[in-house]
Amino acid sequence: MDNVVITGMGGSAIGGEIVKSLLLADTSIPVMVWRDYRLPPMVGRRTVLFASSYSGNTEETIAAYLSGRERGVQIFVLTSGGRLAEMAAGDGVPLIKIPSGMPPRAAIGFMSIPILVVLNKLGLCHNYEDDIMETEILLKERMNFWRRRASALGNFLFKQIPIIYSMSRVLDWVGYRWQCQLNENAKVIAHHGCLPEQSHNEVMGFGAPDFINKRIFIIGLFDKKSAHHRTLIRFQEMVKLLRGYIAGFRIYETEGKSLLARMFSLSVFGDLVSVMLAKQRGVDPLTIPRIDELKGSLSRRKM
Ligand code: PA5
Repeated sequence: MDNVVITGMGGSAIGGEIVKSLLLADTSIPVMVWRDYRLPPMVGRRTVLFASSYSGNTEETIAAYLSGRERGVQIFVLTSGGRLAEMAAGDGVPLIKIPSGMPPRAAIGFMSIPILVVLNKLGLCHNYEDDIMETEILLKERMNFWRRRASALGNFLFKQIPIIYSMSRVLDWVGYRWQCQLNENAKVIAHHGCLPEQSHNEVMGFGAPDFINKRIFIIGLFDKKSAHHRTLIRFQEMVKLLRGYIAGFRIYETEGKSLLARMFSLSVFGDLVSVMLAKQRGVDPLTIPRIDELKGSLSRRKM
């Protein structure tokens, strides 16, 4: 096989990002996460395609699934039901059934681990069983501590605009996950970027408008094993330059041995921060009315 493509949107795409980061560090097979309707030309008979939609009714993912079918691509579907489950059953496409009844973004384990298992069975990546076990143990052991730390950061972020900077490529998705969780759970605006790239452009944006900049709090996500040693220095020098332009910054470091555990350590911590901030703001972290309304109005428009 030439490549692996995982297509999905929002909370259903993040599982693909985990797989992409792991395989980026481990194998030579390219992995792409596709968040759009029509699949790109690189997707063909030598692609393994995963169509991932928690509800099974997301129009972009359905369109991507259909374009994969037209091209004769080997497809696996991850969903809890909906049209995608029906189509997979009708087309004889392997279906990985996810338990229903949770917000898609909370099903992160269900949307990532099965992909790793399938890819391992296809001989495209190694067996991650030990890493999965380690992650599970780490999450159980550290949850209370992270909860306390998240509560402090959540309270602190109450009147701030969080900007999350990942300090290695494999943590890029973790920063984006923080942003999305802050958007969807806490209903606040947030932004993420990845160093070193960010320090070649975005760094110039701090300064105006002044009333916004003074409210910005930078959260640096650091993983000693994957970050280039110059990237931490770069971050430290950058925040020195930003003194007086932003409200402050803090660095959080990964925990654990395997990359999977390390990525999850900061991603789960971010999830907790978003829920703590939601609590502080008095909003329901489970509901996403604006996204639902948008999907509703789009479904009434011709496809
Ligand atoms: O977190 C969410 O609920 C959203 O980001 C959804 O995941 C996104 O809208 C896609 O829907 P689904 O996961 O059902 O395909």
